[in-house]
Amino acid sequence: MKVCVVGTGYVGLTTSVSLAFLGHDTTCIDLDNQKIDTLRGGHCPIYEPHLEALLEQASSHLTFTTEYAVGVPDADVVFIAVQTPQLDNGNPDLQYLRSAAESVAQHLRGDFTVVVNKSTVPIGSGNWVDAILREAYERHHGHRPDGRFAVASNPEFLREGTALADTLYPDRIVIGSDNQKSLDLLNQLYRPILNQSFTPPTVLPRPAGMSAVPLVSTDLASAELIKYAANAFLALKISYINEIAAIAGKVGADVREVARGTGLDARIGPRFLNPGIGWGGSCFGKDTAALIATASEYHLPTPIVTAARDVNHRQRTKVVDRLLDELHIIKGRKVGILGLAFKPDTDDLRDSPAIDIANLLLERGARITLHDPVAANRFRREQPTLAEHLADRVEDVFDDADAIVVATEWSHYRDLDWAKFAPTMRSPLVLDGRHCLDADRLTEIGYRYLTMTAPAIPPRSQT
Ligand code: UDX
Ligand code: UDX
Repeated sequence: MKVCVVGTGYVGLTTSVSLAFLGHDTTCIDLDNQKIDTLRGGHCPIYEPHLEALLEQASSHLTFTTEYAVGVPDADVVFIAVQTPQLDNGNPDLQYLRSAAESVAQHLRGDFTVVVNKSTVPIGSGNWVDAILREAYERHHGHRPDGRFAVASNPEFLREGTALADTLYPDRIVIGSDNQKSLDLLNQLYRPILNQSFTPPTVLPRPAGMSAVPLVSTDLASAELIKYAANAFLALKISYINEIAAIAGKVGADVREVARGTGLDARIGPRFLNPGIGWGGSCFGKDTAALIATASEYHLPTPIVTAARDVNHRQRTKVVDRLLDELHIIKGRKVGILGLAFKPDTDDLRDSPAIDIANLLLERGARITLHDPVAANRFRREQPTLAEHLADRVEDVFDDADAIVVATEWSHYRDLDWAKFAPTMRSPLVLDGRHCLDADRLTEIGYRYLTMTAPAIPPRSQT
């Protein structure tokens, strides 16, 4: 099929490369000239494992342009995957979606095209986009569209760091439209993934036992709400285990054991029960805020989703409180933060807990040193003030430090020679904000080991 994707961010680029890999002729449009030049050069403007390899493998089916006139006219399916950043009132900013929809309408030429919202948009946006397309089409073509296009929703559930695997081997595909022809076309487009009939890329083998993918083919509003309901539930699950972790810390229970025992219940499931400093990223915060904003338009209270946000927010200040418990004074202390990306395997810093923790420590008068094995360059661009505290060498984070906070569970930090660094610290104290380190090993070599909730474990030498 002929596919066009507007926007080459995480969602747009991953979707484009995956569809091209399946053999669909895919044209990617982005207004950012530099991104298009980079992509034409065979390189990825974002850090995402395997994306560059697949970009090369699928290059014969990929075209990159800044021109709507190149991608839209003959397309069977046009995906809109532009950013919908959060406004102060919690609602997503839809200006980019509006201008993309208007440009798409202007260049539609085919007999029938499905225009798909791939961006995370408030419930009801499908109808809104339909109205914009209709109005713009009439303005540019001088006549009504008369069934030449229809709008659909196809929310994505990809996670950064595993975006391609989540796209080629998803738990489900959700399509929503009030137009049957659109649902049929999208069903056809995704057939290779639904049947798992494609030859897997060498870099991304098919998970064992995977033979087909469920399709949720539904109406527009339900598809739009599935996206928010799913993300809010994942955020909720993480905040829930962090709330349980606080109780575990007081009653002397091991929260990871509690998570394992709880997650084995098939109705609950083991994933997304990792306690720690809480969630970040471009989605959970924005999507929970948008869901609350939508509900409030109908005067509906959302105490559960609101609580998930509050618990998550408090996790960040709790890090400083934990250090205060141990160090008694924060002012003048040197604290090292390992990990700036909101999670491993990405350089994305959006709503990263580490950034809030760094700012909170500075406000309390601490000296901080920051490190990330991958996101440092992006950090310098996006956080120029905090970047003054960046250290290129991990040993500089430990040197003369009163405490280390692990904020992102990069394997790089798990595999560090922790014994070598302990003697360089003023006091070998580590707060493992992601439960990713081996407490026995660290206390053996002389560290005092902390997590967000459990009592501190002193160095073996002191026990
Ligand atoms: C529950 C737990 O499921 C079980 O693990 C525990 O050991 C005892 O308590 P039960 O009380 O038999 O078991 O009820 P369950 O079938 O889980 O349902 C509880 C109530 O929730 C019912 O009224 C059911 O109608 C309702 N329910 C269940 C929903 O409203 N929605 C659902 O999705 C599931
Ligand atoms: C999320 C959703 O998972 C994905 O389906 C949706 O499409 C986009 O938003 P992403 O933001 O890339 O994906 O990251 P995810 O892997 O979900 O992690 C989000 C945050 O939760 C990270 O900060 C991570 O560290 C944290 N997290 C995750 C926990 O604290 N505990 C967990 O158990 C899992």
